[in-house]
Amino acid sequence: MTERKRDELLGIRTAGTRDWNYDITQYYRYEPTSYEALDTLSENYKFDGVNRVVDFGCGRGRVAFYLHNRFRLPVTGIEANSITYEEALENLTSYRFKANHIPAPIEFKLGLAQHYTIDKADDCFYFFNPFSVHIFGKVVNNILRSVTRDKRMVNLILYYPFPDYIDYLRIKPFTVVKEIEVPNTIDIREKFLIYRLSEEDI
Ligand SMILES: C[S@@+](CC[C@H](N)C(=O)[O-])C[C@H]1O[C@@H](n2cnc3c(N)ncnc32)[C@H](O)[C@@H]1O
Repeated sequence: MTERKRDELLGIRTAGTRDWNYDITQYYRYEPTSYEALDTLSENYKFDGVNRVVDFGCGRGRVAFYLHNRFRLPVTGIEANSITYEEALENLTSYRFKANHIPAPIEFKLGLAQHYTIDKADDCFYFFNPFSVHIFGKVVNNILRSVTRDKRMVNLILYYPFPDYIDYLRIKPFTVVKEIEVPNTIDIREKFLIYRLSEEDI
């Protein structure tokens, strides 16, 4: 089934890309996680015990809608590009017609990921190469400060991870608990890495 057909099933429009209009080298362009990759993730990782997912750099919201729909999970998407954010809100309106029976909240916030105040309910954080490792470091440190305040297990999900993200996490107290390869590709970066920080490691 094509990506557009999968979008239609959720009542959303998330295909395509969007570059930044001006020269912002630290913020990367919009491009959605493929549905094939999301299916692979969901077949191998069941989000057991997850309280709320945050997609940092959610774009038009594909990951948020998919996880909300499949796992009935609360999801928050943070997006810095105002046009893309508006598209996520339009999608939310049309998605609600299809998914009104799912009580879990789903919301989108316009803003910079590094300025988002991590809530104690947030415990699973999704990244598909939204920004430079410098910004990634700020977000990870915000997560660490939050778990120090409100102790809980947290997971980071990296899709198509950049080597510099992986290197950065080597010096942080996270452990890789799962590596999930997306099938039918020779691209070795087509995978998910799931990092965990357990309560006893805080
Ligand atoms: C590669 S896309 C990923 C979209 C979505 N997470 C997915 O997987 O389908 C990265 C998104 O991050 C957004 N972004 C870039 N820098 C950001 C920042 N500092 N804060 C929030 N969003 C940002 C971009 O506008 C873009 O929509």
